Amino acid sequence: MSSNLVFRVMQNEDVEEVIRLFSECFAHREPIGKYFGISVDTIEPRFTRPVTLECAKELLSFVCEDTSLPKGERIVGFRLCSSFKDEFELLKAKFDSISVDENHEAIKYLMNKLKHEWLCNDHPDLANDPSKMKKILSLFALGVKSTHANLGIATKLLTVSLNHAKSLGYELAFVIATAEISQHIFSKKLGFKQTFVLPYKDAEFEGRKFLAGIEKPPHLIVFEKFL
Ligand SMILES: CC(C)(COP(=O)(O)OP(=O)(O)OC[C@H]1O[C@@H](n2cnc3c(N)ncnc32)[C@H](O)[C@@H]1OP(=O)(O)O)[C@@H](O)C(=O)NCCC(=O)NCCS
Repeated sequence: MSSNLVFRVMQNEDVEEVIRLFSECFAHREPIGKYFGISVDTIEPRFTRPVTLECAKELLSFVCEDTSLPKGERIVGFRLCSSFKDEFELLKAKFDSISVDENHEAIKYLMNKLKHEWLCNDHPDLANDPSKMKKILSLFALGVKSTHANLGIATKLLTVSLNHAKSLGYELAFVIATAEISQHIFSKKLGFKQTFVLPYKDAEFEGRKFLAGIEKPPHLIVFEKFL
């Protein structure tokens, strides 16, 4: 790997650059964003900005900087993480009281439902104990600039962020992988255990199979790994 690549904890001053890269990666290359044809301008205020700002509150996320590039364009990869929160009941109450037909709300609902079901079905002992739940790391978004693809940057970002979290006392990592490459990385390269597979054609929100047109990969996968 090039010596120009530096891996370090994401700081507040990285946030705007990360939001830009996160928006580009998820609008143009991540399967769900690509399927809906979401624009960078739409995805930013609704998804990538709030998620990045939330993750920046905890020093758990990592970036990869290419120091050979000009300042302000150096971040070529990011791995956003946060401590695990189960907010499904709150979200469900909101969605039960209003009818929501926007796709980004449907995605949020689905992701939170999968997270909640993983916790309650696979780890009921943690679900009932807030002090144990604090030891779960949630892996949110992972992205690498296409100019730097297949150099091992995402794999290294994951390795350093998992080691860092472990050194802080985290014991278990949780992630929902939506893309073929990330599914390959989690299962084949980093030894994550697959706990649940949801075919995109079966994902439903308010009676709508809203991801039915996604063919590649055929499903999203819930993974976990003990650190
Ligand atoms: C997913 C992503 C972060 C990977 O970044 P990256 O730095 O190129 O990944 P790495 O170089 O660490 O690893 C790539 C691995 O995937 C493999 N790969 C490449 N294309 C692939 C494909 N279409 N299907 C399966 N595996 C693939 C590579 O061969 C390599 O594995 P290997 O080392 O066993 O050969 C990047 O593609 C990206 O930003 N995608 C858009 C956003 C996204 O989908 N994020 C994940 C959402 S869960």
